[in-house]
Amino acid sequence: MGIWQSLTGFLRKENTVSSAAAEKIIEEPRPPIDPYPLSPYVAWAGRRNRDPILSVFKKIFPASGNILELASGSGQHINYFAPHFPKVTFQPSDYDTDVFDTIKSTRADKGNANVADPIRIDLTDPSSWPAPADKLYDAIFVINIFQVAPVSINDGIAHLASKVLKPNGFVAIYGPFKVDGGYTTASNEAFDKEILAAKVPEWGLKDVRDLEKAAEPYGIVLKERLDLPANNFILIFGRR
Ligand SMILES: C[S@@+](CC[C@H](N)C(=O)[O-])C[C@H]1O[C@@H](n2cnc3c(N)ncnc32)[C@H](O)[C@@H]1O
Repeated sequence: MGIWQSLTGFLRKENTVSSAAAEKIIEEPRPPIDPYPLSPYVAWAGRRNRDPILSVFKKIFPASGNILELASGSGQHINYFAPHFPKVTFQPSDYDTDVFDTIKSTRADKGNANVADPIRIDLTDPSSWPAPADKLYDAIFVINIFQVAPVSINDGIAHLASKVLKPNGFVAIYGPFKVDGGYTTASNEAFDKEILAAKVPEWGLKDVRDLEKAAEPYGIVLKERLDLPANNFILIFGRR
């Protein structure tokens, strides 16, 4: 039984907050939506979601080992989480090498000796992926990519996970999602309509079921769906 399976009944209660509590988290005015990883909007989203995500990760991450972040962007999350897991080595990554200086300068500001130099991983290009012979990971996490990326990105995440995850490792995917073809809340529907209005083909909320379908061929399946504030989820995938 994976660690999340024994914890998630507890997690769901712990991390499901009332809408009043969620409102408190989003008091800070929202900048205009802009998925560029170094934008004020992405930084704002990170300040809003980092503590709820951390509270889950504190329960499911191992005390020691290796953890890989995909699509790290500015590195705001990995550098925020790392001090809470001093015996874990965190590996940031992104396909956009322009963000690497920001990841490294935040690491230096915070004195995070357990954050490795970022590596380039393009989830659509297996030739860019780290070799399993180099290192296996206890966990992989990815935050807020699916609103602005095709569902096929989960092919990449699952395919990579099937190669570099330890046998009992897991993938934690954070973001807003549709469930069974529908919105879970009016606010997620409003958010989706806002990003769809930009008319960028890959933008828009993805359905959890479609992520499952993309992961299935690689033997990676959904284990749990955890509710987080502001109508987001953490999806836990692991080996079948
Ligand atoms: C909205 S930003 C989120 C960044 C970060 N996770 C955060 O929450 O602050 C989306 C990130 O996905 C990365 N990304 C997009 N397509 C990717 C791909 N094919 N492979 C790896 N990273 C990708 C972008 O470079 C960007 O850093």
